[in-house]
Amino acid sequence: MQTLLTLFRDLFSRAIKQAFPAEFIESDLIEITPSTSEKFGHYQCNSAMKLAKMLQQPPRAVAQAIVTHLEHLPSVSEWVEKLEIAGPGFINMTVRAEYLAQRVNSMLHEPYFDLTRSEKKEKIVVDFSSPNVAKEMHVGHLRSTVIGDSLCRLFEFYGDDVLRLNHLGDWGTAFGMLIAYMKEEHADVLKGTRTCELSELMEWYKASKKRFDEDEEFKKRSQLEVVALQSGEPDSQAAWNKIVDISRRAYCQIYQLLDVKIIDRGESFYNPLLKALVHDLDVKGLVTISDGAKCVYLEGFKNREGELLPLMVQKSDGGFNYDTTDLAALRQRVDEEKADRLIYVTDQGQGNHFAMIFKAGENAGYVDPKKVRLDHVGFGLVLGADGKKFKTRSGEVEKLIDLLTTAISHAKKIISERTPELSAEEQEKNAIVLGINAVKYADLSCNRHHDYVFSYDKMLRFEGNTASFLLYAYVRILSIKRRVAVPESVLAETAIVLTHPSEINLALHLCRFGETLEQMKQDLLPNHLTDYLYNLAEYFNAFFRDCRVEGSPEQNSRWLLCDLTARLIQQGFDILGLKTLERM
Ligand code: ARG
Repeated sequence: MQTLLTLFRDLFSRAIKQAFPAEFIESDLIEITPSTSEKFGHYQCNSAMKLAKMLQQPPRAVAQAIVTHLEHLPSVSEWVEKLEIAGPGFINMTVRAEYLAQRVNSMLHEPYFDLTRSEKKEKIVVDFSSPNVAKEMHVGHLRSTVIGDSLCRLFEFYGDDVLRLNHLGDWGTAFGMLIAYMKEEHADVLKGTRTCELSELMEWYKASKKRFDEDEEFKKRSQLEVVALQSGEPDSQAAWNKIVDISRRAYCQIYQLLDVKIIDRGESFYNPLLKALVHDLDVKGLVTISDGAKCVYLEGFKNREGELLPLMVQKSDGGFNYDTTDLAALRQRVDEEKADRLIYVTDQGQGNHFAMIFKAGENAGYVDPKKVRLDHVGFGLVLGADGKKFKTRSGEVEKLIDLLTTAISHAKKIISERTPELSAEEQEKNAIVLGINAVKYADLSCNRHHDYVFSYDKMLRFEGNTASFLLYAYVRILSIKRRVAVPESVLAETAIVLTHPSEINLALHLCRFGETLEQMKQDLLPNHLTDYLYNLAEYFNAFFRDCRVEGSPEQNSRWLLCDLTARLIQQGFDILGLKTLERM
């Protein structure tokens, strides 16, 4: 089904093209937006003012000409209730309630509601989460994981072919240090006679760094380890595998808790491609030697002093780094994965890195940005109550696992107060849902470009724009549906009819689901969907306050409105990676 917004954009576009000479009609001229307030109708067209300037005609007269042509288009009277010119030339449009009813009735039977799925299944590579081996995941990885997963879920809903990649930081000279240290101090772990936790690995990592800086002999041994590892020496390889395994176990625990699916394909995966990559860049004349290192300089990328910034593809000691791997990954994803779209979800601080990778990839002929859409999906910081970067009380970086378990234990307290009648097992299950939903929703509902303040109390509230508020609305609708219990056979004969203004408002909002997803797909901002769901719950509450369901003459039609609302909340939750409950 075409969304309401595209339907009206097409109509306005046709009317404007009929009314005015083609040379005045640029692609960005047609501007239709949902109205900001009920008194301006449902949708608003702002094109008359711009057009008037170009034509040097009075804007209201231009608006009138658009309206007259629009009114004469076929079927318009079936869709449009009222067209009004307001202020300097805004055109306000109200959709017919009968047409909204027709749309929500079809949405009841469509598995994708009012969304038009991708015509051509696109291959979309999403690079997200991507923690670093031998280090704990932190809140920055939370944002990447939660936002990335939600974008994957969105594309999957569209029917695209999504490759979810975990670009683990699992390669580099630091591993030489850690392996050398563990061979000396913790050989039992490397041999597998004792297992250890990621937190221990992290301690050893710090200790090995210290020793590296202080002890020349150790430094040499570490460097030899790197060479051994990179040449595939079995002992070093086995030690490296062990380290990756221990780290992976910790990440998997988090992914399980967050219900996130992802394929591990770390930096090491691209190792065999790096030499040939640098050679290719060299042959293409893109490499400049600077202090012995091989660098790619790109026009327009400068530091504060106005000097060109390098993308360093090979260090002076011959080693490769983050830049090399990312360039190799881009090439592999286009060439072998046949990606139509590449998405990278990391903190905003890496924006420049990716802009440079994209540009270098283009210059080297690895990607044509006209054919493959490239997006760096950046995000802001997670802040503590003090407005500074989120830390533990002792000033250390908070481990993600601790943060999640704390959210769950806060939720458990709330659950035991609200529903003491539930079994302990059920309370536990609900606490996980409530706690994880809260953390995810708080992140997704904040425009990702902004920082946000992390607060367990705020995110777990049952009022305001929170997951718990939405979940409560959802559970309430389910209980209404159960109580009214209209038989299937009756429902099959029932169509939604809209009369009360609160019913119409709710239906209009239900009809904006596809429109919202379209927008999220364009700018990759999940907060479009959280805002949509929050408003949906508000429209539903107004409807339920104003319109009696049980025992009213409109009961069965209203039951169907409840049903569609609940299903859209459920679907929206699913795209955000949140879980619903049947009772609470
Ligand atoms: N490991 C990096 C970090 O923790 C993120 C990697 C992001 N993906 C990429 N292709 N560079 O910051």
